[in-house]
Amino acid sequence: MSLSQLIGDLGEQSRGPLYQRLHHALRQAIKENKLASDSALPPERDIATDIGVSRITVRKALDALAEEGLVRRRHGAGTFVAARVEKSFSMLTSFTEDMAARGRSVRSDWLRRAAGAVTPEEAMVLGLSPGSAVLRFHRIRYADDVPMALEYSSVPAQYLPSETAVDDSLYRALEATGSRPVRALQRLRAVSFNEEQAELLGIEAGEPGLLIERRGFLEDGQAVEYTRSYYRGDSYDFVAELQIGAAR
Ligand code: GLP
Repeated sequence: MSLSQLIGDLGEQSRGPLYQRLHHALRQAIKENKLASDSALPPERDIATDIGVSRITVRKALDALAEEGLVRRRHGAGTFVAARVEKSFSMLTSFTEDMAARGRSVRSDWLRRAAGAVTPEEAMVLGLSPGSAVLRFHRIRYADDVPMALEYSSVPAQYLPSETAVDDSLYRALEATGSRPVRALQRLRAVSFNEEQAELLGIEAGEPGLLIERRGFLEDGQAVEYTRSYYRGDSYDFVAELQIGAAR
């Protein structure tokens, strides 16, 4: 089966520039195992002819997939689907997607969903100038009705039409405006929950948790998200697949 048959009509994929639609369609095909783990993709020019787009478009889509770790380029041998991506926690996925992949239902309670002026901390991590507008999303996140995490996200206001654009999923809302992060820096730290946080999560104050800070970036390097996620220590395992350096 050709790649164009596999991914279907790009016009029916998410909005945004062509390379991004191709990137998302290929990502979907990889996730659904339509493109087998470790299989070789056709050469760029063949993909371009097959799908009817320019080589630059194909190159940019493959670059984005490579950056997410979904494909690997092997010098002189071409581009390959990365092995066993479905288990990799280095994927830039959302809470909704992570839980759906485990067959768990997701819901959130809003603690806050509002527009405001950037704080000095947000300005620094998001690379914004003082006085810029940001949208803030503070949520309790549940999986199968069990409170899993408290999540505090800030997004520069220019990337979403308004704070109410986010309903169930922040990443879905960002994807709809073509602003879903394609790269992220993540920092993990052990924490213990204070009274207020513990009450929101239905646990005892002082219990251990995991703080995951994520800064998500767009293709052009602009930060689009700063999120602090406080996961309950008893409900979240962070698993990373490690590979020997020579594999890259
Ligand atoms: C994870 C990440 C957050 C991200 C969130 C988006 O929890 N740690 O940085 O903001 O997913 O999830 P959703 O799209 O379900 O709102």
